[in-house]
Amino acid sequence: MSNPASLLQPVAALAPHPLLDAFPAVAGHFPLVRIGEYPTPVRLLSRLGAAYGLDQLWLKNDGLSGRPYGGNKVRKLEFLLGAAMARGAREWIAAAALGSHHVFASALYGAKVGIRTHAILFPQPVTDHVRMMFAATRQHAASVMVIPHPVLSPLASGWKWFARAITAGRPPFVLPMGGSGSLSSLGYVGAAFELKRQIERGELPEPRAIFTAVGSCGTMAGLLAGARLAGLNSRVVGIGVVERIIANPARVAAQANQCLRLLEQAGAIPRQPLFHVSDALVLPGYLGVRYGDPTPLAMEIVEQARKLEDLPLETTYTGKALAGALDYARQQGWRSEPLLFWNTCNSYTE
Ligand SMILES: Cc1ncc(COP(=O)(O)O)c(C=O)c1O
Repeated sequence: MSNPASLLQPVAALAPHPLLDAFPAVAGHFPLVRIGEYPTPVRLLSRLGAAYGLDQLWLKNDGLSGRPYGGNKVRKLEFLLGAAMARGAREWIAAAALGSHHVFASALYGAKVGIRTHAILFPQPVTDHVRMMFAATRQHAASVMVIPHPVLSPLASGWKWFARAITAGRPPFVLPMGGSGSLSSLGYVGAAFELKRQIERGELPEPRAIFTAVGSCGTMAGLLAGARLAGLNSRVVGIGVVERIIANPARVAAQANQCLRLLEQAGAIPRQPLFHVSDALVLPGYLGVRYGDPTPLAMEIVEQARKLEDLPLETTYTGKALAGALDYARQQGWRSEPLLFWNTCNSYTE
């Protein structure tokens, strides 16, 4: 179990991983645990688009990125699981808000390869979706600690790390907040190449813009770097769904640059020009009062997406992201341009 390469075999036989497909030479550099199913499907959201005056609103559905639980965590976790297993970790620590998809997905997929998850969770506005995620995390994590405020999470993580290092005899792997970092963003570099191939196969036109939610920034950073490397002309547009101090253009650009650096160091790409803050457009204005607040616009979009397209979204991330996308498209006067909404929330209901 400690050799991640052994876990590669069954799924690698089915389909190449999008990043390794684009850069076969990086295989030895980044151990991967394959949990994703690619390519994720694309489809035209004709009814939802028409309801908001758009002729070509497309969906890239990463909600179907992995079974039994999809969403953007799958592409990131393949790299994080690989790194943890390469280090021989048997436990990891994940800190986030009560209804975190990252913590749940880490607990679920970690358990599949023998990694136990210690969850550190802080409060957020409680919706039915948050309640459901919290219950699911409690079911799959080895331990759950609820702390009163996010500022305490480094302290709680440090304490947990120390306690497990002493009692279990080996230190746990500490997951980055939201699972985001240069390594895990490589999953979304691969995703951009996957989209490029779908465009080349004629499954959809090249989008004028690609819209995605921005929380801990890893998804957008990977897409930004990947879109450039894959030669996509689409503008990657992020919608901030957490406070600006966390979801902002400077953090996205920095993570995208670190991602490029990793690929340069692996010999996959020649030296690249750096992204500047102005390359990363992260729209403010759709967050509401704070992280997790179900804004009226997000609630409306979640309802419309369910009713018109049978697309399950939620109000913390994807409802706000799609709300921002539709509003921005209207402001830009984009009526008939192809626009792509990248769904980052699980679509499986089991
Ligand atoms: C459903 C969903 N979408 C989007 C995001 C934001 O992605 P990122 O943290 O990579 O910015 C998250 C993060 O937790 C998420 O759970």
